[in-house]
Amino acid sequence: MDPGEPLESGGASGAAPVGTDRVVRVDAGEWGWTWAADADGRLHQVGLGPEGARAPVEVDPVWYPDAHPTWGGADPLRPPALRITHADGTTTTRLRLDRVERQSVGDDETVSVCAFDEVFNLRVRFHARTHRASGVLEQWVEIDHDEDGPVTLWDHDSIAPTFLVGPDAAITQFGGAGWADEWAWTTERLTPGTKVLDSLGGIQPHLQRAPVLLLEPNGPTDEESGDVVGCSIAWGGNTRFALDVRPRANEELRDLRVRAGANPLGAHYVLEAGDRFVSPTVAWTWAQGRQQLSDRFHRWTRDRVLRDPGRTRPIVVNNWESTFFDFDEARIIGLIDRAADLGADLFLLDDGWFGTTHPRDDDDAGLGDWDVDRRKLPGGLEVLVRSAEARGIRFGIWVEPEMVNPDSDLFEAHPDWVIRDGREPRLHRNQLALDPLLAEVRDFEVGVVDRVLAAAEGATYLKWDANRPVTDPGSRALPTDRQSNAWVDWVHATWDVMARVARAHPATEMMLCASGGGRTDHGTLRWFHEFWTSDNTDPVTRVRMQWACGHWLPMSATAAHVTAWGGRPLPFACAVALSARFGFDLDLDALDADGLAVCRRAVACARRTQDLVQHGRLRRLVSPVDGDRSRAALAFVSDDRGRAVVFAYQLEESTTEAPAIRMDGLDRDAAYTATVTDLTADPVELGPFTGAALADGVLGWNLTEPTSTRIVELVRSDAADPPGGGPGGVSRSATGTAP
Ligand code: GLA
Repeated sequence: MDPGEPLESGGASGAAPVGTDRVVRVDAGEWGWTWAADADGRLHQVGLGPEGARAPVEVDPVWYPDAHPTWGGADPLRPPALRITHADGTTTTRLRLDRVERQSVGDDETVSVCAFDEVFNLRVRFHARTHRASGVLEQWVEIDHDEDGPVTLWDHDSIAPTFLVGPDAAITQFGGAGWADEWAWTTERLTPGTKVLDSLGGIQPHLQRAPVLLLEPNGPTDEESGDVVGCSIAWGGNTRFALDVRPRANEELRDLRVRAGANPLGAHYVLEAGDRFVSPTVAWTWAQGRQQLSDRFHRWTRDRVLRDPGRTRPIVVNNWESTFFDFDEARIIGLIDRAADLGADLFLLDDGWFGTTHPRDDDDAGLGDWDVDRRKLPGGLEVLVRSAEARGIRFGIWVEPEMVNPDSDLFEAHPDWVIRDGREPRLHRNQLALDPLLAEVRDFEVGVVDRVLAAAEGATYLKWDANRPVTDPGSRALPTDRQSNAWVDWVHATWDVMARVARAHPATEMMLCASGGGRTDHGTLRWFHEFWTSDNTDPVTRVRMQWACGHWLPMSATAAHVTAWGGRPLPFACAVALSARFGFDLDLDALDADGLAVCRRAVACARRTQDLVQHGRLRRLVSPVDGDRSRAALAFVSDDRGRAVVFAYQLEESTTEAPAIRMDGLDRDAAYTATVTDLTADPVELGPFTGAALADGVLGWNLTEPTSTRIVELVRSDAADPPGGGPGGVSRSATGTAP
C-alpha cells in the first residue's frame, strides 16, 4: 500500500476530508505512529516506533480491529478490539475513515481520527494527545450512535497497536498475590497465543495487578539501550491487557497485537442512542532503554497527572501501625509531641477516630459515621489540630468515604445505598461499598470530606482509603438490562466525587490509598498528591516494590514509612523509606535512645535529600529484581548534576560477586565530595572524587550483612549548599579513600 501524501492541511486546528491513500501521522516526540486509509477508507497501521511518525514499516495490519477478525497479508485472524452488537442484532462492524481533526495547544496536539460504520449510524473517534516534552502519548476512544435502539459494546479497548517482535520479545507485568504483595515483578518471554493480564474488583483492582505493562519487543534491554515500550491504563477500575502473538510462516519474527483498556469481563456496555461511551485513556511511549522510559513517565506524571507536582512532600508521622484502633487523646497528643520532637512536618491520624453510637474500636463497626468518638477524643479533632499547630507541625486525617459497616448509623438509615446485586451482600473486612451512581451517595461522600475537614479545622492533609473490592455488582441507579454498565460508570462517578473534593479543598494535600496500593493508576491520581504504595512495609520487600513502581511514578508520589514490619534493623528500614516520600508509622513512644538517634539522623538525611528523591532524576544502578536479587542500589541526581544521593541496600545473602556502584549522570570532569552514612553514626565525609571516578565505580559495594545499607550524598565542589544546611556532625575520614 502506498501511504500517499500527508493528509494534514497545516492549520493549527481544523478538519480535513479524507479520500483514499491518505496518511495520518502522530509525532509523539522521538517516536510515533502512522496510519493510512486504503481505497475503502479502512485504516491500517503503517508505521510505529522511533521512525513511526515518519517512515512506513512493513507491519500492515488493520490498525484497530473492529467486529470480526480480518485476514490477509500480515493481518491474520485475531480477536477484535471493538466488538459491538448493533441495535438490530448484527454482530459485525466495519469502520471507515471520515475525517481527521487536529487541535494544537502549544507544542502539543490532539489528533482525532473520526470513523463511522459503513452500514450503521455509529461513530468512533480515536483520540491521540501528545505530550512531546516527555514523549508519552495519551489515547482514548469515544463511541456514539443513532441506531434504532441500544447497542452493546462487548470489547472496547482504548488502543490496539501491532508490533513486529523478535523471538526474545518479553513483557514485564506488575502484580502479586493481592494485599501486601503489590508490584511483584514478573518478566516473561512472549509465546504464540493470547495472554490476558487483567484485574478485577472495581475499587482496588491494583492490589492484584498494577495497570501498567513493559514490553521489550526485541528482547532484553538495559537502562541505557534497547527498544522498550511502556503502557499505562489510566483507569480507576478493572483493566485488561490482551497480548495476541501470532507467528509468521518461516520467520522468526512474530506479530504482537497489544489491546489495552477497561476490562470488559462482565462489563459489556449497553449504549443508548445519543449517549457517548468514553474509554479509559492509555498513556504509552516507545523509549530507548528503561532510563528513558522512566524519565518520560515521571515527566508526564508531573506535568499531566499529579497535583502540585513541584511541592516537596512533607515528612509524615502516621499512627496506624503503632496504635491501630486502640488510642485516646493523651496517646495521640503524645505521638504528636514525638513527631514534632523528631522534626517531622505532619502528623496523620488514621482509622479509628470516629463512630458515636457504633464506636470504631475495630474494623467491624462505625464506618460511615463520621462524627468524632468523644470517648477516645473528648476534645474532638480540634484539640489535636491545635496541639499539632502548637508544636509547629501540620495535622492530617484519614477517611474512607465510599464505605460503610452494616453496624453503623449510616447503614441503619440508608441500607439501600450499598452496591449489591439483589442478593444478601457479602461482607469484606466487615464492610460494604456505597453505590456512587446514586446522586445522594455522591453528595454524601463529598460531604464526608467537608464535614471532617470542618471538624478538624486547620488540617491540611487527607488520606483517602477504600478497603474492599466490589464482589456483588449491581446498582439500583441502572435499569435491569444495563447492570453491566456499572463497572465503567462507577469509575466516572467516583472520579466526579474526587474532582469535587479536590476543587473544594485545593490547599489540602491528599494521599490515595486502597488497602495499600489498590489504586495506583494515572487516572485516579489526578486528584491526589501521592499514594500509599503498599501496606507491606517490610523494607526488603519495599525495595523491590519501589523499584518496580519507580519505573512509572516519581518518588514524590510514592509514600514510604518506616515501620516495624519484618523486624528489620531500624537504620535499614529508615534508609529504604528515605528513597521515596519519607515518613514514619512507628511507635515513637517506644523508641529507646539508640532508636531515637537513628530516626533523628534519618530525618536530618531527609531534610538534605528529599528534594533530590522527590524531584531529581532517578537512576537505577543495581537491580533487586534480576540476578540473585540480593542487592539494590539507586540514585537521584539534581537537574544541574550538582548534587546526588545514592542508596545501596544489601537485602539478603549474596551468591554473586559484589558490583561496583557506577554512579551515572554526574558531571564527569567535576569534583564531588561524598558524605556517607549507614544511619548508625553521623555521616563521614570522603573524597573528593571526580564524576568520572564515580562513574567508573570508585564507590565500592562494601556491604555484606543482609539488611545493611549505605547512603552516599554527593555534592559538586561549586554546588550550592544542600537544603538542611549540610550534614550535621560530619567527620572527615582520615584516609579519604573510597568508602
Ligand atoms: C488500610 C490502609 C492502612 C490503614 C488501614 C486503616 O489497610 O492501607 O494504611 O489506613 O486501612 O483501617
